[in-house]
Amino acid sequence: MAAIASTLLLSFSFSTVSSSSLFLTRITSRFSFAAPLPLRSNHTKHMAHTLARATATLGLTHPSNTDSPKISFAAKEVDVTEWNGDILAVGVTEKDLAKDGKSGFENPILKKIDSKLGGLLAEASSEEDFSGKAGQSTVLRITGLGSKRIGLIGLGQTTSTTAAFKTFGEAVAAAAKSAQASNVAVVLASSEGLSKETKLSTAYAIATGTALGIFEDNRYKSESKKSALSSVDIIGLGTGPELEKKLKYAGDVSSGIIFGRELVNSPANVLTPGVLAEEASKIASEYSDVFTAKILNAEQCKELKMGSYLGVAAASENPPHFIHLCYKPPSGTVNVKLALVGKGLTFDSGGYNIKTGPGCSIELMKFDMGGSAAVLGAAKALGQIKPLGVEVHFVVAACENMISGKGMRPGDIVTASNGKTIEVNNTDAEGRLTLADALVYACNQGVEKIVDLATLTGACVVALGPSIAGIFTPSDELAKEVVEASEVSGEKLWRMPLEDSYWESMKSGVADMVNTGGRQGGAITAALFLKQFVDEKVQWMHIDLAGPVWNEKKRSATGFGVATLVEWVLKNASQK
Ligand code: BES
Ligand code: MN
Ligand code: ZN
Repeated sequence: MAAIASTLLLSFSFSTVSSSSLFLTRITSRFSFAAPLPLRSNHTKHMAHTLARATATLGLTHPSNTDSPKISFAAKEVDVTEWNGDILAVGVTEKDLAKDGKSGFENPILKKIDSKLGGLLAEASSEEDFSGKAGQSTVLRITGLGSKRIGLIGLGQTTSTTAAFKTFGEAVAAAAKSAQASNVAVVLASSEGLSKETKLSTAYAIATGTALGIFEDNRYKSESKKSALSSVDIIGLGTGPELEKKLKYAGDVSSGIIFGRELVNSPANVLTPGVLAEEASKIASEYSDVFTAKILNAEQCKELKMGSYLGVAAASENPPHFIHLCYKPPSGTVNVKLALVGKGLTFDSGGYNIKTGPGCSIELMKFDMGGSAAVLGAAKALGQIKPLGVEVHFVVAACENMISGKGMRPGDIVTASNGKTIEVNNTDAEGRLTLADALVYACNQGVEKIVDLATLTGACVVALGPSIAGIFTPSDELAKEVVEASEVSGEKLWRMPLEDSYWESMKSGVADMVNTGGRQGGAITAALFLKQFVDEKVQWMHIDLAGPVWNEKKRSATGFGVATLVEWVLKNASQK
């Protein structure tokens, strides 16, 4: 095979910003081996403020300065048997493992590799009972190839989706971690028949899977080991500018996902509503060519009559911050205006209807700002991608749901900014109260479409389990757009009904509505509640990500939502 046709370098640069900044991990993508980008020019301005706040942090916890690795992704066309490095990872389907009469591989790539290894690979794969199932992997230390190790990584049966290639990338990352590899090559045993489009989306999925698999949030650990991975060569999926662009896109989206994960993982004593607002402002100043930020304090929210949101925030010592970022393209006209609205409860105790009893997960309720993390993660990615023709508003009514003598009582009636009154029959159904005013605000920006994301109901987790988000929308058109975006991103969504007859349970004797229906259909009545605060002429979707926001097994945030939101915004853009 010919030598390298074109080499792309994409660096995921996890470089240190400063020990006083909350979110130290930055990922930048670029096309050279250049040194990490210089510190942001506005850095010192932030520093004094951040330090002043940091000294007051409850429990004296400060996220540490994680000195993270830089990974370059390169698309290459080289002979795999001549590739030099630590691991040559081969993605194999169950079909690729078919053997010929002499117990050798039929697949040409596996056959070629194994001819240099004297049949070791075929032998080992039989002995280790490696069948190519998704997630299965085996790594062998070898001599005879340029690579020190060969890894076989299962892709499942024959068809492979974005989600499968993301999982494959994660398995590559896991193999790299355990071998402490710094250079890895990735190749698929069967990539010949793939269309150009499929090759592009496959490279995207592998790159994001690997980058996210390598990422570990160690900011709150006193000691941590670092990954050695510095380069990943993607072989056999082509080369050239389109692929380069796709890999840059993978880097931009991954940096947004990692930012989202860091926000969610940060505990509520560190990530207060004020700190969340500061992080949003930092995005705006980092990408000041396309973003403006507006942060409203409680007084300003009162002027806008946001009684529903302020009712939730009332019990907290940490004041609410209403976050509004606006993205405008760097040039050209705007054809469509969108809004992304995220639930931003930095902690949800339940209020007077306090979360008690087994399974209520009160200790996990720092993740109740997962919707806002998805929205701000998307903002970070879009600040780097800079799509044309589209204006995007990012709206988060950030606060805490706490208990105090100043707090909202069960039975209180609050008045939202559209004038509607709500009898709060359960203070634990607080997310919808904050979203009510956020949705009214978003509609007032003159947007045509709104997607809101919220860790809204335990009922949605009961319905769809831990890894699928529920989507609710009256618009078939918007449902189609977002579902298509999720097929590209590999995030799992399932459309749920907005059953109008269930509104019956949300009626109040004294106000326009209550905030909580019965236990039955709890995710649906929550969505019907939100619908009361959206203009009829605006296309709107609600995404309940109470399940997929958190990975129980890894005890860590997923960054769910970022990739789908970015893809959806790009679908609405005139040019990417
Ligand atoms: N933040 C919770 C929803 C939640 C629960 C997310 C468990 C993830 C895991 C939300 O504010 C809440 O408390 N919802 C209540 C609503 C009920 C009072 C109608 C719930 O789901 O129990
Ligand atoms: Mn709650
Ligand atoms: Zn909540």
